[in-house]
Amino acid sequence: MELEPLTGVERRGTDCLKWDAMKRSFGEEDLEAFWVADMDFHAPLCVRETLRHWADTAVFGYYAHPQEWKLAFLDWMERRHGLRMEAAWLRFAPGIVTGLYWMVSALSEPGDAVAVLKPVYYPFFDAVQDTGRRLVSCDLRNENGVYSIDFDALEALFDRERPKLIILSSPHNPVGRVFLREELERISALCDCYGVTVLSDEIHQDLVFPGHRQVPMLSVRQANTVAFASASKTFNLAGLQNSYLILPDPALRAKFDAYARSVLAIHGGAEVGELAAAAAYRGGEPWLGSLLLQVRENFELVRAVLREKAPKAVVTELEGTYLMWIDLRAYVRTKEAVKELVQTRCRLAVDYGDWFGGKDYVGFIRLNLATSRENCLRAANRLGDALASVNIAR
Ligand SMILES: Cc1ncc(COP(=O)(O)O)c(C=O)c1O
Repeated sequence: MELEPLTGVERRGTDCLKWDAMKRSFGEEDLEAFWVADMDFHAPLCVRETLRHWADTAVFGYYAHPQEWKLAFLDWMERRHGLRMEAAWLRFAPGIVTGLYWMVSALSEPGDAVAVLKPVYYPFFDAVQDTGRRLVSCDLRNENGVYSIDFDALEALFDRERPKLIILSSPHNPVGRVFLREELERISALCDCYGVTVLSDEIHQDLVFPGHRQVPMLSVRQANTVAFASASKTFNLAGLQNSYLILPDPALRAKFDAYARSVLAIHGGAEVGELAAAAAYRGGEPWLGSLLLQVRENFELVRAVLREKAPKAVVTELEGTYLMWIDLRAYVRTKEAVKELVQTRCRLAVDYGDWFGGKDYVGFIRLNLATSRENCLRAANRLGDALASVNIAR
């Protein structure tokens, strides 16, 4: 397959969240953005051409929602992930986080426990707590930066808290794990044993590196399971607000449909999001190939610089996602010390570890690698030099 070259783009001044709205989260606005999980590359050519044609020709009236956005996704899932699904299983949500809120609301009751594996993408906490459910969690096992599921802890959690749902990030944000089939099977067996419904957020499913293989949860189990996917991370289309809720289980589908009818009254998304996703799934593979090479190169580069300049930083292997998880606790141990080093000295806007799981993760950072090699090199050098000048963990 001939790859489509990536083209970098200056995003400052485009009203994007990542570069133009950092003041809200960091209190200042001239940092280098390595936080929000989107990319500093132009979208694939096939998407841009489709939308150009659409803008030139369309009347922007009510849309009939033809099946193509579903069919393109189904073909993609079969081609890339070996999973056959049916169009009838798919429902629309503008984004995965919104979809999680909907599914938590439709499939559990206020006061029910909902489980997550920490550290994890922090809107999972909001989707549970904002809907009046009870957040319960157990930590992934961390052996010098190598993360695995602590099944004893998970079973103890299920036994103690009797959660109605578990929300998984698979691949895992922020630790970059691509779970093995046997890990997913063990989760599935525990969920069967304790009657827990699985919500599997697979938004990062296509961002997986050689040597690893994404196993869709729906290839392990379909009963009592909902999967979530979209072209948003794969092709950087999050702003177009088009995601897939996948419900193969007829009973869950009926429950969700009743909730959607009575509460959401939503019939589909915007034409532009459906067209973009279909175009990307049909023609975006050559672009995705380049993206994966660039992200991997960026990861190796940052890791090499840190190994040389700050060997006590623990870099977790990147199996999937474009998000690098780094443990800086040998150098900085308090929130203030991390901020002073990363933000004040290095001028970087990163996701702080405690956002993903509270005080146990102070001293970790998550770095977004979906940007140019030059940006990554600059950030790595600044970080490495600043860490090298720290003598004692504060
Ligand atoms: C695991 C995970 N789920 C969901 C999202 C956001 O999805 P959306 O923008 O569709 O709500 C992200 C973005 O970083 C993510 O990492």
